[in-house]
Amino acid sequence: MKTLRQLLEERSRAPLAISPDDSVFAALELMAKHDIGALLVMRDERLAGIFSERDYARKVILSGKSSMQTLVREIMTEDVFYGLPEQTTDQAMALMNDRHIRHLPVLDADKRVIGMLSIGDLVRETAKELRQSRLEAIHLLGRAVEFKDHHTGQHVIRMSHYSQIIALAFTGDELWADRLFHAAAMHDVGKIGVPDRILGKPARLDPPEWEVMQKHSVFGGQILAGNTSDVLQLAQEIAVSHHEQWDGSGYPRGLAGPDIPLSGRIVAIADVFDALTSRRPYKDAWQEDKAVRYIADHADIHFDPELVSVFLEQLPAIQAVRGQYAKDNDDRLTQ
Ligand SMILES: [Fe+2]
Ligand SMILES: [Fe+2]
Repeated sequence: MKTLRQLLEERSRAPLAISPDDSVFAALELMAKHDIGALLVMRDERLAGIFSERDYARKVILSGKSSMQTLVREIMTEDVFYGLPEQTTDQAMALMNDRHIRHLPVLDADKRVIGMLSIGDLVRETAKELRQSRLEAIHLLGRAVEFKDHHTGQHVIRMSHYSQIIALAFTGDELWADRLFHAAAMHDVGKIGVPDRILGKPARLDPPEWEVMQKHSVFGGQILAGNTSDVLQLAQEIAVSHHEQWDGSGYPRGLAGPDIPLSGRIVAIADVFDALTSRRPYKDAWQEDKAVRYIADHADIHFDPELVSVFLEQLPAIQAVRGQYAKDNDDRLTQ
């Protein structure tokens, strides 16, 4: 949760102040010109009052005052609420909600006004923080599953980035690509439902074990079902479709071609590429060009051929991400 000080520091627009000797009409003009809804009136560097445009106009009409000084004096007899820089945004929001106030002057220790926040600023900030913490929880869970699967968490980070790069290049839709970045982190969340002796087996799985392992896509779909969040809905789609294959030989449903959701087709490439270029207990990481060749050779078989072309075009960006998270390629092949 941000403090008011942090929030003020991030804001580029300084509060607009007006001297007590100015006329109220000059103030109204200024507010209209700068398209601002609130005004600080300063006296000896201290806050005298704070007005929203509407309050201000109403008070001018009610009082018929023409100088700021007299108007300020009048308003100062009413409650004026202050925020302190170290208060958090939600404390400030609670205060404002409580008192039905729309604007909050923020004072430093010497009671000097250092900025002004509106309820709109705080609502926006709180929404941002809420979304951020929700996304952090999603990534956290994605990485937690990686640990259960004896990975290190880096696989999820890399393949989420690869997915985003491919999605953006293919669709041009930044918002969707960003959503896919977050949702892809949950692709293997269903592995929570797979026994450790299977997940941790340091050798190839026998057919019955393989059958259980494949259920992770269905489990993931069940875990993520019934959510209203756009990211979690996309995550569910990915969880159940990232092992489908273009020629219909994948699982769990054996979907083929464009029947496989686009998200699952993109994540399939990102997931396999990262798995191939990572180390497993019984194999070294493949050389990158060998893994790239594998992806290219499996266009039309495992992968959507159009998306494979995009993957190949985007290789420099993908390599850059790989370089950034290269410290740790100690992941096992995703099954
Ligand atoms: Fe998977
Ligand atoms: Fe994976």
